[in-house]
Amino acid sequence: MDDATTTLRERLSAVDQQQVLRFFDALDAAGKDKLRKQLLALDLDEIDELAEMHVRHKTPVAIPNDIQPVQMYPQRPHAGQERLYADAIDRGNALLKQGKIGAFLVAGGQGTRLGYDGPKGEFPVTPIKNKPLFRVFAEQLQAWSRDAGRAIPWYIMTSDANDAQTRAFFRQNNHFGLNPEDIFIFQQGMMPAFDMLGHMLLAEKDSLALSPDGHGGSLRALHKSGALADMRKRGVEHLSYFQVDNPLVHCIDPLFLGLHDVTGSEMSSKSIPKAGPLEKVGNFVMADDALQVIEYSDLPEELAKQTNPDGGLKFNAGSIAIHALRVAFVERLNASGKLDLPWHRAEKKVPYVDDKGTPCEPDKPNAVKLEQFVFDAIPLAKNAIVLETDRAEEFSPVKNAEGNDSPATCRRDQIRRAARWLRAARVQVPEKDGEPDATLEISPLLATTEKQLADRNLKLEKVSDGQAVYFDENGADVT
Ligand code: UTP
Repeated sequence: MDDATTTLRERLSAVDQQQVLRFFDALDAAGKDKLRKQLLALDLDEIDELAEMHVRHKTPVAIPNDIQPVQMYPQRPHAGQERLYADAIDRGNALLKQGKIGAFLVAGGQGTRLGYDGPKGEFPVTPIKNKPLFRVFAEQLQAWSRDAGRAIPWYIMTSDANDAQTRAFFRQNNHFGLNPEDIFIFQQGMMPAFDMLGHMLLAEKDSLALSPDGHGGSLRALHKSGALADMRKRGVEHLSYFQVDNPLVHCIDPLFLGLHDVTGSEMSSKSIPKAGPLEKVGNFVMADDALQVIEYSDLPEELAKQTNPDGGLKFNAGSIAIHALRVAFVERLNASGKLDLPWHRAEKKVPYVDDKGTPCEPDKPNAVKLEQFVFDAIPLAKNAIVLETDRAEEFSPVKNAEGNDSPATCRRDQIRRAARWLRAARVQVPEKDGEPDATLEISPLLATTEKQLADRNLKLEKVSDGQAVYFDENGADVT
Protein backbone atom coordinates (compact mmCIF):
# COMPACT_ATOMS: atom_id res chain seq x y z
CA MET A 1 0.00 0.00 0.00
CA ASP A 2 1.37 3.43 -0.90
CA ASP A 3 1.92 6.14 1.70
CA ALA A 4 -1.02 8.27 0.60
CA THR A 5 -3.42 5.34 1.00
CA THR A 6 -1.98 4.44 4.40
CA THR A 7 -2.48 8.01 5.58
CA LEU A 8 -6.03 8.05 4.23
CA ARG A 9 -6.79 4.75 5.96
CA GLU A 10 -5.44 6.13 9.23
CA ARG A 11 -7.44 9.32 8.94
CA LEU A 12 -10.60 7.33 8.21
CA SER A 13 -9.94 5.02 11.19
CA ALA A 14 -9.50 8.03 13.46
CA VAL A 15 -13.09 9.07 12.67
CA ASP A 16 -14.47 5.51 12.56
CA GLN A 17 -15.15 5.56 8.82
CA GLN A 18 -12.62 2.92 7.70
CA GLN A 19 -15.50 0.73 6.41
CA VAL A 20 -15.54 2.71 3.16
CA LEU A 21 -12.20 1.08 2.25
CA ARG A 22 -13.37 -2.48 2.87
CA PHE A 23 -13.23 -3.45 -0.82
CA PHE A 24 -10.34 -1.12 -1.64
CA ASP A 25 -7.54 -3.66 -1.94
CA ALA A 26 -9.45 -5.66 -4.54
CA LEU A 27 -10.30 -2.63 -6.73
CA ASP A 28 -8.52 -1.97 -10.01
CA ALA A 29 -6.41 1.17 -10.36
CA ALA A 30 -9.28 3.27 -11.76
CA GLY A 31 -11.60 2.20 -8.93
CA LYS A 32 -8.98 2.98 -6.31
CA ASP A 33 -8.38 6.35 -7.85
CA LYS A 34 -12.10 7.18 -7.98
CA LEU A 35 -12.76 6.33 -4.34
CA ARG A 36 -9.59 8.05 -3.16
CA LYS A 37 -10.58 11.25 -4.98
CA GLN A 38 -14.07 11.21 -3.48
CA LEU A 39 -12.63 10.78 0.01
CA LEU A 40 -9.96 13.42 -0.41
CA ALA A 41 -12.64 15.94 -1.43
CA LEU A 42 -14.27 15.56 2.01
CA ASP A 43 -13.34 17.34 5.20
CA LEU A 44 -13.20 14.21 7.38
CA ASP A 45 -13.21 16.11 10.66
CA GLU A 46 -16.36 17.86 9.60
CA ILE A 47 -17.87 14.56 8.46
CA ASP A 48 -17.21 13.15 11.92
CA GLU A 49 -18.82 16.15 13.58
CA LEU A 50 -21.86 15.99 11.28
CA ALA A 51 -22.32 12.25 11.80
CA GLU A 52 -22.29 12.85 15.55
CA MET A 53 -24.62 15.87 15.53
CA HIS A 54 -27.12 14.96 12.85
CA VAL A 55 -27.05 11.20 12.45
CA ARG A 56 -26.16 9.52 15.73
CA HIS A 57 -27.98 12.35 17.49
CA LYS A 58 -30.79 14.29 15.91
CA THR A 59 -29.89 17.83 16.90
CA PRO A 60 -33.25 19.56 16.53
CA VAL A 61 -33.53 22.64 14.34
CA ALA A 62 -33.59 25.56 16.77
CA ILE A 63 -36.98 27.26 16.52
CA PRO A 64 -36.78 30.83 17.86
CA ASN A 65 -39.11 31.74 20.73
CA ASP A 66 -40.38 35.07 19.59
CA ILE A 67 -41.52 34.77 15.98
CA GLN A 68 -43.05 37.88 14.42
CA PRO A 69 -44.31 38.74 10.95
CA VAL A 70 -41.92 40.50 8.63
CA GLN A 71 -42.25 44.02 7.22
CA MET A 72 -42.01 43.78 3.45
CA TYR A 73 -41.67 46.21 0.61
CA PRO A 74 -45.03 46.01 -1.17
CA GLN A 75 -45.28 45.08 -4.81
CA ARG A 76 -46.43 48.58 -5.67
CA PRO A 77 -45.24 51.53 -3.58
CA HIS A 78 -47.46 52.74 -0.80
CA ALA A 79 -48.04 56.46 -0.43
CA GLY A 80 -44.69 58.05 0.34
CA GLN A 81 -42.67 55.25 -1.28
CA GLU A 82 -43.07 56.36 -4.90
CA ARG A 83 -39.76 58.23 -4.98
CA LEU A 84 -37.87 55.31 -3.44
CA TYR A 85 -39.30 52.87 -6.00
CA ALA A 86 -38.60 55.18 -8.93
CA ASP A 87 -35.03 55.65 -7.70
CA ALA A 88 -34.65 51.91 -7.20
CA ILE A 89 -35.69 51.16 -10.78
CA ASP A 90 -33.20 53.76 -12.02
CA ARG A 91 -30.50 52.24 -9.83
CA GLY A 92 -31.29 48.72 -11.08
CA ASN A 93 -31.04 49.83 -14.70
CA ALA A 94 -27.83 51.73 -13.99
CA LEU A 95 -26.28 48.66 -12.34
CA LEU A 96 -27.11 46.64 -15.46
CA LYS A 97 -25.57 49.24 -17.76
CA GLN A 98 -22.46 49.34 -15.57
CA GLY A 99 -22.05 45.56 -15.75
CA LYS A 100 -22.47 45.19 -11.99
CA ILE A 101 -25.14 42.47 -12.12
CA GLY A 102 -24.53 38.77 -12.67
CA ALA A 103 -27.25 36.13 -13.05
CA PHE A 104 -26.95 33.08 -10.82
CA LEU A 105 -28.85 29.89 -11.56
CA VAL A 106 -28.66 26.92 -9.22
CA ALA A 107 -29.25 23.76 -11.20
CA GLY A 108 -27.42 21.11 -9.22
CA GLY A 109 -30.48 19.40 -7.74
CA GLN A 110 -31.46 15.84 -8.55
CA GLY A 111 -35.03 16.58 -9.58
CA THR A 112 -36.18 13.21 -8.26
CA ARG A 113 -39.82 14.24 -7.90
CA LEU A 114 -40.12 15.21 -11.57
CA GLY A 115 -38.30 12.06 -12.59
CA TYR A 116 -36.96 13.56 -15.84
CA ASP A 117 -34.02 11.69 -17.28
CA GLY A 118 -31.41 14.43 -17.53
CA PRO A 119 -30.68 17.85 -16.02
CA LYS A 120 -33.96 19.58 -15.16
CA GLY A 121 -32.87 22.62 -17.18
CA GLU A 122 -33.32 20.52 -20.34
CA PHE A 123 -36.97 19.91 -19.55
CA PRO A 124 -39.23 21.28 -22.35
CA VAL A 125 -41.51 23.66 -20.55
CA THR A 126 -43.11 26.32 -22.75
CA PRO A 127 -46.63 25.83 -24.17
CA ILE A 128 -45.93 26.10 -27.91
CA LYS A 129 -42.24 25.98 -28.70
CA ASN A 130 -41.44 23.51 -25.93
CA LYS A 131 -38.41 25.55 -25.01
CA PRO A 132 -36.30 23.96 -22.31
CA LEU A 133 -35.97 25.82 -19.03
CA PHE A 134 -32.36 26.75 -19.81
CA ARG A 135 -33.52 28.49 -23.02
CA VAL A 136 -36.22 30.45 -21.21
CA PHE A 137 -33.62 31.93 -18.86
CA ALA A 138 -31.02 32.40 -21.61
CA GLU A 139 -33.45 34.40 -23.75
CA GLN A 140 -34.40 36.60 -20.81
CA LEU A 141 -30.74 37.30 -20.16
CA GLN A 142 -30.13 37.96 -23.83
CA ALA A 143 -32.99 40.48 -23.88
CA TRP A 144 -31.78 42.29 -20.76
CA SER A 145 -28.18 42.29 -22.00
CA ARG A 146 -29.34 43.74 -25.32
CA ASP A 147 -31.28 46.50 -23.55
CA ALA A 148 -28.44 47.25 -21.11
CA GLY A 149 -25.93 47.42 -23.95
CA ARG A 150 -23.62 44.92 -22.28
CA ALA A 151 -23.57 41.24 -21.43
CA ILE A 152 -24.89 40.00 -18.12
CA PRO A 153 -22.54 37.20 -17.05
CA TRP A 154 -24.37 34.03 -16.16
CA TYR A 155 -23.12 31.74 -13.36
CA ILE A 156 -24.66 28.29 -13.43
CA MET A 157 -24.19 25.76 -10.67
CA THR A 158 -24.41 22.08 -11.57
CA SER A 159 -23.45 18.97 -9.64
CA ASP A 160 -21.32 15.96 -10.38
CA ALA A 161 -24.44 14.11 -11.54
CA ASN A 162 -25.44 16.60 -14.27
CA ASP A 163 -22.43 18.79 -15.03
CA ALA A 164 -21.21 17.04 -18.19
CA GLN A 165 -24.73 16.79 -19.63
CA THR A 166 -25.46 20.43 -18.87
CA ARG A 167 -22.28 21.59 -20.57
CA ALA A 168 -23.02 19.40 -23.60
CA PHE A 169 -26.56 20.78 -23.80
CA PHE A 170 -25.30 24.35 -23.84
CA ARG A 171 -22.76 23.48 -26.55
CA GLN A 172 -25.31 21.62 -28.69
CA ASN A 173 -27.63 24.62 -28.47
CA ASN A 174 -24.92 27.07 -29.37
CA HIS A 175 -25.22 28.54 -25.88
CA PHE A 176 -28.70 29.76 -26.84
CA GLY A 177 -27.21 32.72 -28.64
CA LEU A 178 -25.13 33.91 -25.68
CA ASN A 179 -21.39 34.37 -25.76
CA PRO A 180 -19.83 31.29 -24.07
CA GLU A 181 -17.31 33.62 -22.43
CA ASP A 182 -20.15 35.10 -20.42
CA ILE A 183 -21.31 31.72 -19.11
CA PHE A 184 -19.52 30.27 -16.09
CA ILE A 185 -20.60 26.72 -15.27
CA PHE A 186 -19.29 25.20 -12.06
CA GLN A 187 -20.03 22.28 -9.77
CA GLN A 188 -21.31 22.29 -6.24
CA GLY A 189 -19.96 20.07 -3.47
CA MET A 190 -21.20 16.57 -2.73
CA MET A 191 -22.08 15.06 0.64
CA PRO A 192 -22.02 11.38 1.54
CA ALA A 193 -25.14 9.63 2.77
CA PHE A 194 -24.81 8.01 6.20
CA ASP A 195 -26.36 4.85 7.55
CA MET A 196 -28.37 5.34 10.73
CA LEU A 197 -25.22 4.75 12.83
CA GLY A 198 -23.34 7.53 11.11
CA HIS A 199 -21.21 5.45 8.76
CA MET A 200 -20.77 6.68 5.21
CA LEU A 201 -22.49 4.38 2.72
CA LEU A 202 -20.93 2.98 -0.41
CA ALA A 203 -23.08 3.16 -3.55
CA GLU A 204 -20.64 0.78 -5.22
CA LYS A 205 -17.47 -0.90 -4.11
CA ASP A 206 -15.49 1.98 -5.56
CA SER A 207 -17.85 4.85 -4.86
CA LEU A 208 -19.44 6.65 -1.94
CA ALA A 209 -23.19 7.26 -1.99
CA LEU A 210 -22.87 10.96 -2.74
CA SER A 211 -25.50 13.61 -3.39
CA PRO A 212 -25.34 17.39 -3.88
CA ASP A 213 -24.89 19.37 -0.67
CA GLY A 214 -28.03 21.52 -1.09
CA HIS A 215 -28.61 24.91 -2.73
CA GLY A 216 -26.89 26.48 0.29
CA GLY A 217 -23.75 24.76 -0.98
CA SER A 218 -23.88 27.26 -3.83
CA LEU A 219 -22.46 29.91 -1.52
CA ARG A 220 -19.38 27.77 -0.91
CA ALA A 221 -19.12 26.60 -4.52
CA LEU A 222 -19.12 30.20 -5.78
CA HIS A 223 -15.93 30.70 -3.81
CA LYS A 224 -14.23 27.35 -4.45
CA SER A 225 -14.92 27.36 -8.18
CA GLY A 226 -13.34 30.75 -8.78
CA ALA A 227 -16.73 32.26 -9.73
CA LEU A 228 -16.34 35.00 -7.11
CA ALA A 229 -12.90 35.81 -8.44
CA ASP A 230 -14.38 36.02 -11.95
CA MET A 231 -16.99 38.47 -10.63
CA ARG A 232 -14.32 40.65 -9.07
CA LYS A 233 -12.43 40.67 -12.36
CA ARG A 234 -15.54 41.71 -14.26
CA GLY A 235 -16.73 44.22 -11.68
CA VAL A 236 -19.90 42.26 -10.83
CA GLU A 237 -21.23 43.46 -7.46
CA HIS A 238 -24.58 41.71 -7.15
CA LEU A 239 -26.03 38.35 -8.12
CA SER A 240 -29.60 37.77 -9.18
CA TYR A 241 -30.25 34.27 -7.82
CA PHE A 242 -32.92 31.92 -9.17
CA GLN A 243 -33.67 28.23 -9.37
CA VAL A 244 -33.96 26.02 -12.39
CA ASP A 245 -37.57 24.92 -12.06
CA ASN A 246 -39.51 28.19 -12.40
CA PRO A 247 -39.93 29.56 -15.93
CA LEU A 248 -42.04 32.48 -14.67
CA VAL A 249 -39.07 33.91 -12.77
CA HIS A 250 -37.93 37.37 -13.77
CA CYS A 251 -34.23 36.51 -14.01
CA ILE A 252 -33.53 40.23 -13.92
CA ASP A 253 -35.74 42.75 -12.15
CA PRO A 254 -34.42 46.33 -11.97
CA LEU A 255 -36.80 47.24 -9.13
CA PHE A 256 -35.71 44.31 -6.97
CA LEU A 257 -32.01 44.71 -7.70
CA GLY A 258 -32.22 48.47 -7.25
CA LEU A 259 -34.09 48.26 -3.93
CA HIS A 260 -31.54 45.72 -2.76
CA ASP A 261 -28.74 48.13 -3.59
CA VAL A 262 -30.22 51.41 -2.36
CA THR A 263 -31.23 49.86 0.98
CA GLY A 264 -27.71 48.50 1.50
CA SER A 265 -29.10 44.98 1.75
CA GLU A 266 -26.60 42.15 1.55
CA MET A 267 -29.21 39.53 0.71
CA SER A 268 -32.70 40.29 -0.51
CA SER A 269 -35.62 38.03 -1.24
CA LYS A 270 -38.92 37.97 -3.04
CA SER A 271 -42.03 36.71 -1.34
CA ILE A 272 -45.58 35.84 -2.36
CA PRO A 273 -48.72 35.67 -0.21
CA LYS A 274 -49.20 32.06 0.82
CA ALA A 275 -51.98 30.02 -0.78
CA GLY A 276 -53.04 28.79 2.67
CA PRO A 277 -51.72 28.54 6.23
CA LEU A 278 -49.97 25.22 5.68
CA GLU A 279 -48.69 25.70 2.14
CA LYS A 280 -45.39 23.90 1.72
CA VAL A 281 -43.21 26.96 1.27
CA GLY A 282 -40.76 28.58 3.66
CA ASN A 283 -42.05 31.50 5.75
CA PHE A 284 -40.25 34.82 6.07
CA VAL A 285 -40.39 35.90 9.71
CA MET A 286 -38.57 38.17 12.13
CA ALA A 287 -37.03 36.30 15.02
CA ASP A 288 -34.06 36.95 17.29
CA ASP A 289 -33.81 40.41 15.72
CA ALA A 290 -33.14 38.95 12.31
CA LEU A 291 -35.04 38.25 9.14
CA GLN A 292 -35.15 34.53 8.52
CA VAL A 293 -36.96 31.75 6.74
CA ILE A 294 -38.66 29.09 8.79
CA GLU A 295 -39.57 25.99 6.85
CA TYR A 296 -43.25 25.06 6.66
CA SER A 297 -42.53 21.93 8.66
CA ASP A 298 -40.88 23.96 11.45
CA LEU A 299 -43.42 26.78 11.81
CA PRO A 300 -45.65 25.80 14.74
CA GLU A 301 -49.14 25.12 13.37
CA GLU A 302 -50.86 27.49 15.80
CA LEU A 303 -48.69 30.32 14.46
CA ALA A 304 -49.22 29.30 10.83
CA LYS A 305 -52.98 29.51 11.36
CA GLN A 306 -53.04 32.87 13.19
CA THR A 307 -54.93 35.62 11.42
CA ASN A 308 -54.95 39.42 11.49
CA PRO A 309 -58.10 41.40 12.34
CA ASP A 310 -58.85 41.60 8.60
CA GLY A 311 -58.88 37.80 8.38
CA GLY A 312 -55.63 37.53 6.42
CA LEU A 313 -52.87 35.20 7.59
CA LYS A 314 -50.50 36.78 10.10
CA PHE A 315 -47.61 34.76 8.68
CA ASN A 316 -48.32 35.17 5.01
CA ALA A 317 -44.88 35.76 3.51
CA GLY A 318 -44.00 32.70 1.45
CA SER A 319 -40.49 32.21 0.12
CA ILE A 320 -40.05 31.51 -3.61
CA ALA A 321 -36.27 31.15 -3.70
CA ILE A 322 -35.55 34.33 -5.59
CA HIS A 323 -32.77 36.40 -4.07
CA ALA A 324 -30.30 39.17 -4.71
CA LEU A 325 -26.87 38.70 -3.15
CA ARG A 326 -23.99 41.08 -2.72
CA VAL A 327 -20.76 39.53 -3.97
CA ALA A 328 -18.95 41.04 -0.95
CA PHE A 329 -21.41 39.22 1.34
CA VAL A 330 -20.73 35.85 -0.29
CA GLU A 331 -17.01 36.56 0.05
CA ARG A 332 -17.46 37.31 3.73
CA LEU A 333 -19.38 34.08 4.28
CA ASN A 334 -16.37 32.21 2.91
CA ALA A 335 -13.69 34.25 4.64
CA SER A 336 -13.07 31.75 7.43
CA GLY A 337 -12.64 28.95 4.90
CA LYS A 338 -15.81 27.27 6.14
CA LEU A 339 -19.36 28.19 5.20
CA ASP A 340 -21.14 28.44 8.50
CA LEU A 341 -24.71 27.50 7.61
CA PRO A 342 -26.72 24.85 9.45
CA TRP A 343 -27.12 21.37 7.99
CA HIS A 344 -30.60 19.93 7.53
CA ARG A 345 -31.10 16.19 7.84
CA ALA A 346 -33.49 14.10 5.79
CA GLU A 347 -34.05 10.37 6.05
CA LYS A 348 -34.10 8.84 2.58
CA LYS A 349 -33.96 5.55 0.70
CA VAL A 350 -30.40 5.32 -0.58
CA PRO A 351 -29.18 2.32 -2.62
CA TYR A 352 -25.93 0.88 -1.22
CA VAL A 353 -23.66 -2.15 -1.25
CA ASP A 354 -23.71 -4.29 1.87
CA ASP A 355 -20.74 -5.86 3.64
CA LYS A 356 -20.58 -8.68 1.11
CA GLY A 357 -20.59 -6.22 -1.77
CA THR A 358 -24.16 -7.02 -2.82
CA PRO A 359 -26.14 -4.04 -4.17
CA CYS A 360 -29.24 -3.32 -2.04
CA GLU A 361 -32.35 -1.27 -2.95
CA PRO A 362 -33.97 -0.33 0.35
CA ASP A 363 -37.76 -0.16 0.51
CA LYS A 364 -37.78 2.20 3.49
CA PRO A 365 -35.51 5.06 4.52
CA ASN A 366 -32.13 3.61 5.47
CA ALA A 367 -29.93 6.67 5.36
CA VAL A 368 -29.47 10.27 6.39
CA LYS A 369 -28.69 12.92 3.80
CA LEU A 370 -27.49 16.36 4.83
CA GLU A 371 -28.05 19.59 2.93
CA GLN A 372 -27.52 23.29 3.43
CA PHE A 373 -30.17 25.81 2.36
CA VAL A 374 -29.41 29.14 0.75
CA PHE A 375 -32.03 31.02 2.78
CA ASP A 376 -30.13 30.23 5.99
CA ALA A 377 -27.68 32.93 4.92
CA ILE A 378 -30.38 35.62 5.28
CA PRO A 379 -29.99 36.15 9.07
CA LEU A 380 -26.26 36.64 8.51
CA ALA A 381 -26.85 39.45 6.03
CA LYS A 382 -26.92 43.13 6.94
CA ASN A 383 -30.08 45.11 6.10
CA ALA A 384 -31.80 42.10 4.52
CA ILE A 385 -35.06 43.07 2.81
CA VAL A 386 -38.08 41.30 1.32
CA LEU A 387 -40.03 42.52 -1.69
CA GLU A 388 -43.52 41.20 -2.12
CA THR A 389 -44.61 40.02 -5.52
CA ASP A 390 -47.44 38.23 -7.25
CA ARG A 391 -47.58 34.45 -7.58
CA ALA A 392 -49.32 34.57 -10.96
CA GLU A 393 -46.58 36.82 -12.27
CA GLU A 394 -43.44 35.13 -11.00
CA PHE A 395 -43.90 31.66 -9.55
CA SER A 396 -45.00 28.36 -11.02
CA PRO A 397 -42.29 25.76 -10.50
CA VAL A 398 -42.06 22.36 -12.13
CA LYS A 399 -41.41 20.07 -9.19
CA ASN A 400 -43.67 17.04 -9.62
CA ALA A 401 -44.57 14.84 -12.59
CA GLU A 402 -48.28 15.33 -11.89
CA GLY A 403 -50.64 17.35 -9.70
CA ASN A 404 -49.43 20.54 -8.02
CA ASP A 405 -46.35 22.25 -9.38
CA SER A 406 -46.25 19.97 -12.40
CA PRO A 407 -45.59 20.59 -16.12
CA ALA A 408 -49.38 20.88 -16.61
CA THR A 409 -49.92 23.56 -13.94
CA CYS A 410 -46.83 25.43 -15.11
CA ARG A 411 -48.05 25.41 -18.73
CA ARG A 412 -51.47 26.69 -17.58
CA ASP A 413 -49.80 29.47 -15.56
CA GLN A 414 -47.57 30.51 -18.46
CA ILE A 415 -50.63 30.80 -20.71
CA ARG A 416 -52.58 32.73 -18.08
CA ARG A 417 -49.72 35.19 -17.65
CA ALA A 418 -49.29 35.62 -21.39
CA ALA A 419 -53.04 36.31 -21.72
CA ARG A 420 -52.84 38.94 -18.97
CA TRP A 421 -49.85 40.66 -20.55
CA LEU A 422 -51.52 40.60 -23.98
CA ARG A 423 -54.76 42.08 -22.69
CA ALA A 424 -52.76 44.82 -20.98
CA ALA A 425 -51.17 45.41 -24.40
CA ARG A 426 -54.70 45.78 -25.87
CA VAL A 427 -54.76 42.42 -27.65
CA GLN A 428 -58.10 40.64 -27.39
CA VAL A 429 -57.80 37.14 -25.96
CA PRO A 430 -60.84 34.81 -25.92
CA GLU A 431 -61.95 33.20 -22.71
CA LYS A 432 -63.80 29.98 -21.92
CA ASP A 433 -64.85 28.86 -18.45
CA GLY A 434 -62.68 31.57 -16.91
CA GLU A 435 -59.49 30.43 -18.70
CA PRO A 436 -57.87 31.85 -21.85
CA ASP A 437 -59.31 29.93 -24.81
CA ALA A 438 -56.00 29.90 -26.68
CA THR A 439 -52.49 28.58 -26.39
CA LEU A 440 -50.13 31.52 -25.98
CA GLU A 441 -46.41 31.97 -25.66
CA ILE A 442 -44.39 35.17 -25.60
CA SER A 443 -40.71 35.08 -26.46
CA PRO A 444 -38.57 36.77 -23.80
CA LEU A 445 -36.80 38.39 -26.75
CA LEU A 446 -40.03 40.28 -27.43
CA ALA A 447 -40.81 41.19 -23.81
CA THR A 448 -39.76 40.06 -20.36
CA THR A 449 -42.40 42.11 -18.53
CA GLU A 450 -45.99 43.20 -19.01
CA LYS A 451 -44.88 46.79 -19.38
CA GLN A 452 -42.34 45.96 -22.08
CA LEU A 453 -45.00 44.08 -24.03
CA ALA A 454 -47.34 47.06 -23.84
CA ASP A 455 -44.59 49.19 -25.41
CA ARG A 456 -44.04 46.80 -28.35
CA ASN A 457 -45.60 46.98 -31.76
CA LEU A 458 -47.71 43.84 -31.88
CA LYS A 459 -48.89 42.55 -35.24
CA LEU A 460 -52.00 40.94 -33.88
CA GLU A 461 -55.01 42.73 -32.36
CA LYS A 462 -57.10 39.69 -31.64
CA VAL A 463 -56.46 36.04 -30.87
CA SER A 464 -59.18 33.70 -32.22
CA ASP A 465 -60.94 31.01 -30.20
CA GLY A 466 -58.69 28.03 -29.62
CA GLN A 467 -55.82 29.55 -31.59
CA ALA A 468 -52.15 28.88 -30.78
CA VAL A 469 -50.04 32.00 -31.12
CA TYR A 470 -46.35 32.36 -30.48
CA PHE A 471 -45.30 35.98 -30.13
CA ASP A 472 -41.76 35.98 -31.43
CA GLU A 473 -39.34 38.87 -31.25
CA ASN A 474 -41.10 40.51 -34.19
CA GLY A 475 -44.58 40.50 -32.72
CA ALA A 476 -46.54 37.38 -33.66
CA ASP A 477 -46.18 34.09 -35.44
CA VAL A 478 -49.53 32.32 -35.69
CA THR A 479 -49.14 28.56 -35.66
P1 UTP B 1 -35.36 21.29 -4.97
O1 UTP B 1 -35.47 21.59 -3.54
O2 UTP B 1 -36.61 21.29 -5.76
O3 UTP B 1 -34.59 19.91 -5.13
O4 UTP B 1 -34.34 22.32 -5.60
P2 UTP B 1 -34.26 19.05 -6.40
O5 UTP B 1 -33.11 18.18 -6.00
O6 UTP B 1 -34.07 19.84 -7.65
O7 UTP B 1 -35.56 18.17 -6.64
P3 UTP B 1 -36.11 16.91 -5.84
O8 UTP B 1 -36.36 17.38 -4.44
O9 UTP B 1 -35.07 15.83 -5.94
O10 UTP B 1 -37.38 16.57 -6.59
C1 UTP B 1 -34.64 23.67 -5.76
C2 UTP B 1 -33.56 24.29 -6.62
O11 UTP B 1 -32.29 24.15 -5.96
C3 UTP B 1 -31.38 23.49 -6.81
C4 UTP B 1 -32.23 22.70 -7.79
O12 UTP B 1 -31.51 22.42 -8.97
C5 UTP B 1 -33.37 23.67 -8.00
O13 UTP B 1 -32.98 24.70 -8.87
N1 UTP B 1 -30.52 22.63 -5.98
C6 UTP B 1 -31.06 21.82 -5.04
C7 UTP B 1 -29.18 22.64 -6.21
O14 UTP B 1 -28.68 23.37 -7.10
N2 UTP B 1 -28.39 21.84 -5.46
C8 UTP B 1 -28.86 21.04 -4.50
O15 UTP B 1 -28.07 20.33 -3.84
C9 UTP B 1 -30.25 21.03 -4.28
